[in-house]
Amino acid sequence: MGSPVAPAALLFLFCALSLLPNFAFCITRHYTFNIVSHNVTRLCHTKSIISVNGRFPGPRLIAREGDRVVVKVANHVANNVTFHWHGVRQISSGWADGPVYITQCPIQTGQTYTYNFTITGQRGTLFWHAHISWLRATLYGPLIILPKRNESYPFKKPYKEVPILFGEWWNADPEAVIAQALQTGAGPNVSDAYTINGLPGPLYNCSSKDTFKLNVKPGKTYMLRLINAAMNDELFFSIANHTLTIVEADAVYTKPFKTRLVLITPGQTTNVLLQTKPYYPNANFLMTAVPYFTGLGTFDNSTVAGILKYEHPPNQSSNTKKKLFKPTPPPVNATAFVANFTQKFRSLGSAKFPANVPQKVDKRFLFTIGLGSNPCPNNTTCQGPNGSKFSASINNISFVLPTTALLQSYFFGKASGVYTTDFPTNPLNPFNYTGTPPNNTVVSNGTRAVVLPFNASVELVLQDTSILGAESHPLHLHGFNFFIVGQGFGNYDSNNDPANFNLVDPVERNTVGVPSGGWVALRFQADNPGVWFMHCHFDVHTSWGLRMAWIVLDGSLPNQKLPPPPSDLPQC
Ligand code: C2O
Repeated sequence: MGSPVAPAALLFLFCALSLLPNFAFCITRHYTFNIVSHNVTRLCHTKSIISVNGRFPGPRLIAREGDRVVVKVANHVANNVTFHWHGVRQISSGWADGPVYITQCPIQTGQTYTYNFTITGQRGTLFWHAHISWLRATLYGPLIILPKRNESYPFKKPYKEVPILFGEWWNADPEAVIAQALQTGAGPNVSDAYTINGLPGPLYNCSSKDTFKLNVKPGKTYMLRLINAAMNDELFFSIANHTLTIVEADAVYTKPFKTRLVLITPGQTTNVLLQTKPYYPNANFLMTAVPYFTGLGTFDNSTVAGILKYEHPPNQSSNTKKKLFKPTPPPVNATAFVANFTQKFRSLGSAKFPANVPQKVDKRFLFTIGLGSNPCPNNTTCQGPNGSKFSASINNISFVLPTTALLQSYFFGKASGVYTTDFPTNPLNPFNYTGTPPNNTVVSNGTRAVVLPFNASVELVLQDTSILGAESHPLHLHGFNFFIVGQGFGNYDSNNDPANFNLVDPVERNTVGVPSGGWVALRFQADNPGVWFMHCHFDVHTSWGLRMAWIVLDGSLPNQKLPPPPSDLPQC
């Protein structure tokens, strides 16, 4: 990593028409993902990991806005796999979205499946990852969407662009970690390290040689494509003695703003400009990521560090001792910082890149999100809260994955016995969500969906609960971007809070951190027929059931209908 964007193992196929001089359209980019296992050593610990093409992190997918991307996945390992193109809108291509048992059955050992989708109306940084169990711990990589040919960024062209992926490393097999947790009902073992581009860096045992280095020249603008691919942790990122300018979030341009510290939740991506010093500073600078943790349990409280290195001044020998600067730690009241920071994100909202915020609302939803418990099965002992098992829910429904894919069941009219369409639009038993939690924390379990008519305009309030501890939750919606029109602490007040909504230039994203002990209000237009997963991007919470599905019906016009599945769609 660290070199400028360069196509890796890809083949351009031009449509016949596109051979004309202005071939701005109709490019298809082909990739092959061979799912294999290979040995990797981190923290002086060697283990076999599942990877794409033997690479960790995985290969970069690069496309221009408007391009078609075709990824042939061939599964050569014992585990089932699926892949998700996180943040890609998948307009009319819901069969390529990837969450297991939502839009597809798993790709089994020895099978292949070809994901085929077009990137429409998006530009910036996204990422791809496995979407089954915890396999995304090692199966992830950048998805870079460049502007259309002959188009430019709405900011000064960077000298170089560098993906910065944050990940999480376990010395144990992450599949064993989550399997054990689900068995005992306890929280899973926390990770052993965070990584930048797969490398833990000098603050961990035995890892100085495994340090990501960003070599820069003075007086240049670098664009860092930040991607939080960590499993269970929101992260603060900063570079010592440098300020960053945020210009894009989740593949949508933002109004630029400067910050020394970036909070990025799992599932979020953001482009930042790094202006290097105008002179040779004769020093190196650590770039670090540390967790922002708001829950009650244990967490990995370690620090990943990379090094920003200025090249040597022309007339100085390369072994002059250099100072090393470290970033200042995040403020003690991190939650106040986060609330302030997230409200600085605004859509660019230019004539070319407008913020198309739904101004009227057809359907309103209030979803509580948080933890809960399931009783311990008879004749077993459990290690969750008060001898129960940890669970997590939306509107107190802990979502049970079916054993066949919802999208197939829906498309072929075979819902019966697979899912129901009675997901509650509001909490069934309202309570003081952020006050003293109720004594009964037991969730109900089910596979329930919300059905939306085509093109409904939706307002969704996500309300954190204090059950088993208030906690910030990064909620991710598949198939859509939403506008974050409001947020606050405490309980959402449907009488007074809407007056403060920003319906002019709210940020447009696919993943939002619901504030710990607070709420966010989102709006989106349900203009994409299919079945769309929504879940906490902490994998532990998703595993515990903090997930649900939206079914968006077809519209009446031919281009408003979900096409039939591709012939190689895996069967269960
Ligand atoms: Cu990045 Cu459903 O996830």
